[in-house]
Amino acid sequence: MKALILVGGFGTRLRPLTYTRPKPLLPVANRSHVEHLIALLARHGVDDVTLLTSYMAEAFAGVRSWAEARGLRVSVAVEDEPLGTAGAVRNAGDVGTEPFFVVNGDVLTDADLSRLVDLHRRARARATLLLKRVGDPSAYGVVPTDPEGRVLGFIEKPEPGTAPTDAINAGVYVFEPDVLERIPEGRAMSAERELFPALAADGVLYATALGDYWIDIGTPATYLQANLDALSGAFRTDAVPAPGPDAVVAGEGSLLAPDARISSACLGAGCRVGPGAEVTRCVLLPGATVEAGASVVDSILGEGAFVAGGCALSGAVLADGDRAGDRSGGSR
Ligand code: GDD
Ligand code: MG
Repeated sequence: MKALILVGGFGTRLRPLTYTRPKPLLPVANRSHVEHLIALLARHGVDDVTLLTSYMAEAFAGVRSWAEARGLRVSVAVEDEPLGTAGAVRNAGDVGTEPFFVVNGDVLTDADLSRLVDLHRRARARATLLLKRVGDPSAYGVVPTDPEGRVLGFIEKPEPGTAPTDAINAGVYVFEPDVLERIPEGRAMSAERELFPALAADGVLYATALGDYWIDIGTPATYLQANLDALSGAFRTDAVPAPGPDAVVAGEGSLLAPDARISSACLGAGCRVGPGAEVTRCVLLPGATVEAGASVVDSILGEGAFVAGGCALSGAVLADGDRAGDRSGGSR
C-alpha cells in the first residue's frame, strides 16, 4: 500500500529549532519523528512512501536511505512553493488505483491503521479520517459525524467554545485515488478548508476514533511531551528499550557525569552533562552541553547548545549553538 506523508510545512511554532531542520526531522527518543511514522505505516502494509515537501526538501535524504534500507520504496515530491495540504497530495503524481494513506508528518501515533482501512472499505467512502477526542478542539480540525461515521462538516480551528464536538481530525487519512480529481493542479489548496468540507457536503467522507496514543508534535510543549511519552512507555517504541517514569535515552558518545541527576530525558549523540548538574524532563539534541552544577528542567536544547555551569533553565527552548548563562557571549 502507498502512503503520502505531508512534511512541507515551515514548523513556525517550533522555531528556532525549525530554522535549521524541518519539523518531521526533530528527534523523538533519538529517532527522527518521521521515522516513527514510517515504521508504523510499514507495520500496516505500506511498502511505498512519498514525502510531500518544499521547505528544506534536501534534508530528507537521510530518511530516504533509512527507509530504503528497510525495504520501502521512497520518493520525494517537491513543491516549488508550498501547495497546501491538498495541493501537495495532487503534486505527488501517480497514486495508482488502490486506496492509499495520507498522513500529516507531525503526528506521533500507534493507531491501528489497518482498522482505518477496513472501515474505509466497509463504508465505501471516498476518504476516511482518523479522529481523536481532545479537551480543547479549537487548535485542530473539528469533525462532527453521524452514528454511522459519516462526516457532517469539517471546521478547521474554530473559535474557542464554538466546536460542536470534541472529536478532532488526527491528520491520518485513507483516500480513494479519484479524490485527486477534486484537487486542481498547480495551485495551493487546503485539505482542511476546501477538500474535506466539499467531500463532507457530498456525504462521501467518513471518520472514526480508534482511541490509541496520539499527539501532534507541532509546539514546544507537545514536542517535549511526545519525547516524555516515549520515555514513560505511553507511546511504545523500541527506541526506548526500558521505558519507565524516569527513563533516559542517551546517544552514542554522550558523556554523563556519574553524579549528574538525569531523569526523563532524551540526550542525542555526543551530549555532555557535567558533575552535579540536573537534567529533568528535557530533550537535548546532539552535541548539547550542560555544565557542572547547572539545572535544566522542562526544556529543549538545540544541537550543540550550551548551558554554563550553575545556570538554571526551566521551560526554555535553545536554538542550535545557543549559549545560556555564558559570560563569554550570548548570555541570557
Ligand atoms: N507538502 C506540504 N505542503 N506539506 C504541508 C504544507 C504544504 O503546503 N502545509 C502543511 N504541511 C504539512 C506540515 O509539515 C505538517 O506535517 C502537516 O502538513 C500539517 O500541518 P500543520 O501546520 O502541522 O497543521 P496543524 O497541526 O495546525 O493542523 C493540522 O493537523 C491537526 C492535527 O494535528 C490539520 O490537519 C488539523 O485539521 C488537524 O486537527
Ligand atoms: Mg501539526
